[in-house]
Amino acid sequence: MSIDASGIRRMFELASKVEDPINLSIGQPDFPVPRPIKDAVIRAIEEDHNGYTVTKGDPRILERCEGHLVGNIGWRFDDGRLDLMMTSGTSGGLVLAALATLDEGDELIIPDPWFVLYPKLASLTGARCVTCDTYPDFRMTAERVAPLITDRTKAVLVASPGNPTGVVLSPSELAALAELCRERGVLLISDEIYDEFVFDEVLVDGLCPSPARFWDQVLLIRGLGKTYGCTGWRLGYAAGPRELIGQMAKLQQFTYVCTPSMAQHAFEAMGEVSIAAEVERYQHRRDRILSRLQPLAELPRPGGAFYAFIEVPPRLGMTGTQFAEAALEHGLLVVPGAVFSTRDTHFRISYAVADEVLDRGLEVLERMLGE
Ligand SMILES: Cc1ncc(COP(=O)(O)O)c(C=O)c1O
Repeated sequence: MSIDASGIRRMFELASKVEDPINLSIGQPDFPVPRPIKDAVIRAIEEDHNGYTVTKGDPRILERCEGHLVGNIGWRFDDGRLDLMMTSGTSGGLVLAALATLDEGDELIIPDPWFVLYPKLASLTGARCVTCDTYPDFRMTAERVAPLITDRTKAVLVASPGNPTGVVLSPSELAALAELCRERGVLLISDEIYDEFVFDEVLVDGLCPSPARFWDQVLLIRGLGKTYGCTGWRLGYAAGPRELIGQMAKLQQFTYVCTPSMAQHAFEAMGEVSIAAEVERYQHRRDRILSRLQPLAELPRPGGAFYAFIEVPPRLGMTGTQFAEAALEHGLLVVPGAVFSTRDTHFRISYAVADEVLDRGLEVLERMLGE
């Protein structure tokens, strides 16, 4: 298996030569872990919850996780069709899902642009990655996915909000995608790592739209790393068809073993914490980006997460990579779209940064895009 990281490596090599860059490349929240979450995890260490847990996670904590999903998605876990487990980050859940569902020659449909792990899920398993072109609006709709499904398709992977675009699909788009997968007998994997980072205009009854509300055989993969700014704790969870979760748990037993034991205890404090104020701050930053850059470049409105995926205006005659290299000369670090896509026409910025850093970055971008 070959994993090519040359594009990213080159960017970061160049960036390492720039002193104190304006860094809009970061993919994690810029706020500290909320106090009750820290306290729950510190308490867990002090109370000696430091050994292995059972593979799916501490049963008492899994119960809390289940309670959260019952309230959030409306799924029932009492009739034996569904199950859930904790995973080692959202990435851990995605890798286990791929190992459990894909064999050599199978096909996995992913969006283009994608989160960097997605194509590797196919490389890891010998499956073939089929990309769904979602340009220019970045909506992975049933209409775009349907023609890609063959008798070798095992799963469709969707992320809403997405990385690198922040685009959130509507409930009707997600319902249609779920219906398509149900009809064609294909697993729908919903990566909902940004479920708490969703802005006012796309919320439904205060919640992030999810295909799991329309079909209870979706494989739901979520995590708390972004939600509580603790990406290093490797805290994720997966819920879906019982048999599939059983397979994933078997694979976890021999690989990740369990989610870090003390991190699991973050679930105990979830009810005491709201990140609404942080998300509101992100929404203001998103609005600032739209008002300043939309007059200069194509930029579909992000409904969540903390990214914007911006087209390099064709009149500039530059690829995304060339634009990102030119931005570095102005001290600005952005990620070229080619890192996430078969195309090299865009670049990603992250606004999980202080307002003052974002403003400095926007000044550079306004100058560059306005040329
Ligand atoms: C869409 C998406 N899925 C999954 C992940 C991986 O998250 P984790 O750190 O929980 O493994 C990320 C991280 O950036 C992401 O953007």
